[in-house]
Amino acid sequence: MNLRIKSFEEYQSKYQESIENPEEFWGAIAETFSWQKKWDKTLDWNFSEPKINWFKGGKLNITENLLDRHLPERAEQVAFYWEPNDINAEGKTITYQELHDQVCQLSNGLKELGVQKGDRVCIYMPMVLESVVAILACARVGAVHSIIFAGFSSNALADRIDDAKAKLVITADGLNRGTKQVDLKSMVDEGVKNCSSIENVIVLNCINSQPNMKEGRDIDYHTLIKGKSSTFAAEPMDAEDMLFILYTSGSTGKPKGVVHTCGGYMVYTSYSFENVFQYNEGDVFWCTADIGWITGHSYIVYGPLLSGASSIIFEGVPTYPDAGRFWQVCEKYKVNQFYTAPTAIRTLMAHGLDVVNQYDLSSLKVIGSVGEPINEEAWNWYYENIGKNNCPIVDTWWQTETGGIMLSGLGDLSPMNPTHAGYPLPGIQPVLLDADGNEITENEKEGYLCMKFPWPSILRTTYGDHDRCKNTYFSNYDGYYFTGDGAKRDKNGMYRIIGRVDDVINVSGHRFGTAEIEDALNTNEFAIESAVVGYPHDIKGQGIYAYVVVENATNKELSEITASLTESVSQGIGRIAKPDKIQIVTGLPKTRSGKIMRRILRKIAEGEQSNFGDTSTLLDPSVVDEIVKESL
Ligand code: PRX
Repeated sequence: MNLRIKSFEEYQSKYQESIENPEEFWGAIAETFSWQKKWDKTLDWNFSEPKINWFKGGKLNITENLLDRHLPERAEQVAFYWEPNDINAEGKTITYQELHDQVCQLSNGLKELGVQKGDRVCIYMPMVLESVVAILACARVGAVHSIIFAGFSSNALADRIDDAKAKLVITADGLNRGTKQVDLKSMVDEGVKNCSSIENVIVLNCINSQPNMKEGRDIDYHTLIKGKSSTFAAEPMDAEDMLFILYTSGSTGKPKGVVHTCGGYMVYTSYSFENVFQYNEGDVFWCTADIGWITGHSYIVYGPLLSGASSIIFEGVPTYPDAGRFWQVCEKYKVNQFYTAPTAIRTLMAHGLDVVNQYDLSSLKVIGSVGEPINEEAWNWYYENIGKNNCPIVDTWWQTETGGIMLSGLGDLSPMNPTHAGYPLPGIQPVLLDADGNEITENEKEGYLCMKFPWPSILRTTYGDHDRCKNTYFSNYDGYYFTGDGAKRDKNGMYRIIGRVDDVINVSGHRFGTAEIEDALNTNEFAIESAVVGYPHDIKGQGIYAYVVVENATNKELSEITASLTESVSQGIGRIAKPDKIQIVTGLPKTRSGKIMRRILRKIAEGEQSNFGDTSTLLDPSVVDEIVKESL
């Protein structure tokens, strides 16, 4: 815990240094970690292939840095407080020593199952301490973890297992979520049915449901680790060896596996964690994300542990048993840094202040936001009622692909401007480009947000398809990483994110491609064709609006058809991607070349009834009037 910048002036000078001498800058930070062998070259890169190597030739194991390195001084310090879904159930804590021992035991178990360096292991688990153990055991043996959010369906799980050719799934019998229990094991059984790469499934008992265990394939978690040694020699990894794959949605096709590597990801997640949250020795940090998303990877697991922090893992949801749950947890553990998504803030805001004011939130020092733009009303509510006008809001902009926070204030050091993410972290070189790829230098002018220089935790490739990585991120503007977001800069140089400029929608901070939702809808027996767009949604930020052309539906109730379409999305992707609105239409607005004019559909979804701009290229403009009429 020694990477912290302590004033805004220091930030400015560090920023300058990081731009002028990036290799010296990051090299000095990397030196503070423990390496089995020092790297040969700090940085070797070009964005045209792309090829990005940080600390190549350096040997390390990230788990030695987040466990063994801390043991002399932190063996008895709590690494995680686990708060269960049921407010009356007892929580658990795990110290750094206990975490180390459990990770080693499971590493020995994985080794016994034949898991080796480079093998892919899929993790489909609840928010429990063993999920962290599973992640770190993979890293310790050198296996590549691919965590799949437990809200994804068995089909989505199967797609990801197949793409990564994972040989093992680590899962649980089920999970608790508010008033519900979700059966994970049957999802896995269904998902792996046709996945030939899977050899074993490890099953943790979380809800006592005693699922069927398939002979020869399924192993109980506790049976596996029983009697295993609590030491395990960490596998030496090259800084550029893969640490994990995380699937994320893009404009086209199936979700792609974003690849992060060991050395750079380690350096950047720890550095950004300490600086953005201004984490101090003894503080209690809480990130409410799920470990299945990048926020959970970087700021529940890796960043905090690398920095020797104590943090919280929460199994439940913000509104169970009531909308005071987050604040009750903050009071209970005297949380110092609290990090959540705007959608949660807007949900809780709608429940009024009584439920907030019952709790003592005076321990809070920094409150954070992530995943989607935070609107001014939510920003003000968060600042006044949670931060009590006394805590800075860090509005952190970043992506699965960036590995760590890119634009944000640093705790209370930086100036704030509501709805603006703020300044780039040291080492981050953002630019705004116009459609022709020219840099925009004026203030308050919107452009495409791109990066012109690599930072240590930038994605290295998309698993199994390097061309896809190149085409998605490095081909739009030669020599730049393209984020997919539109943004502008104010007169002080602070960035404001406008939102995605591609066919990606951001629903409650969760990212979906419109194409993947359409694919799921199109598997439905009634669907001929569909088009999905995002529209402004008060709580979720964006909602999912689906226009579907159907057949064989004459003697069906509309509600039956829409329920069936919704079910197809739940099965294809997961219940998190269910459309908020489904409109059955007789046709979609298409150009003569057959392209769907989403621009018009977006306007209709926003409530527009006319003023669709130029519709002269439409094959049949009357379709638009039909859709408007049907939408009313
Ligand atoms: O559009 C931006 C939005 O979320 C996208 C990245 O989504 P994902 O890879 O799922 O990662 C989310 C958590 C890091 C971005 O392209 N986004 C993320 N943070 C912000 C944001 N939009 C506005 N403000 C933010 N703070």
